[in-house]
Amino acid sequence: MHWSLKNYLKRHSKDPAVRRRAMNKFFERRLRPHGLHLYKGHLNWALSGELNALHATWGDVPGVPADRCAFLHAVGRIARERALDGDTAECGVRYGKSTFFLLSALASPDKPHHIFDSFEGLSAIGARDRPAGETKRWQAGDIAVGEDVTRGNLAAFSNCVFHKGWIPERFPDVADRRFALVHIDVDLYQPTRDALEFFYPRMVPGGMILCDDYGFASCPGATQAFDDFFADKPEFILPIPTGQCWVEKRGG
Ligand SMILES: C[S@@+](CC[C@H](N)C(=O)[O-])C[C@H]1O[C@@H](n2cnc3c(N)ncnc32)[C@H](O)[C@@H]1O
Repeated sequence: MHWSLKNYLKRHSKDPAVRRRAMNKFFERRLRPHGLHLYKGHLNWALSGELNALHATWGDVPGVPADRCAFLHAVGRIARERALDGDTAECGVRYGKSTFFLLSALASPDKPHHIFDSFEGLSAIGARDRPAGETKRWQAGDIAVGEDVTRGNLAAFSNCVFHKGWIPERFPDVADRRFALVHIDVDLYQPTRDALEFFYPRMVPGGMILCDDYGFASCPGATQAFDDFFADKPEFILPIPTGQCWVEKRGG
């Protein structure tokens, strides 16, 4: 069967959100099985045997797209090289794809990786979370995935510690821990802000905070949470062209 992205998109609505999902699906089903080089063949990461092998292992389970996986994997490697003290953590894992790429690079099975997710989808959508002019894109409870499914997807990583619940309810579980790397991907203002308030003082010097959502017009709340929180802090937010961002804790 002949496929082209144009024909594929023709079958779908003109709604930009539906078209974006269609493009993601097209990539996942039609391009990625043949290797990342068909997606971004001019970029070294797309030619990486290691990344291609990880995508083949992960398969078609939805999650963050390949460019953001490449970034997570690269930061995971840096964290491994730096061998900082401290645990790692994620807020918002859904099926666990970001976790899979991070932990594959970190390769530190003795260090706990704390996972915070409602496993009941998004929490209440606030006024700050609506992109200008959009009223219906997100609803509380969207993108829910059961904890058992994610546990199954991450079964190879025995260091995952699951803290199911609404952020920040389960943060006290790790109140006495220090952190080397924290990845935040909850899409919304309040849980992003809560995560920053909790983890920032617990980051070791040189520790890294990443956000999947910072540069997305569709996630204005996450952008605002970072901008508000770091407005009076010495750290810079480094926006990544994939939409992610990186902050490195000063001090030490
Ligand atoms: C965009 S998904 C995460 C995607 C994931 N990082 C990946 O690799 O595909 C957002 C996740 O945040 C969770 N979430 C959203 N709001 C939350 C809240 N207030 N408390 C806990 N989890 C929340 C959702 O259940 C969902 O699993």
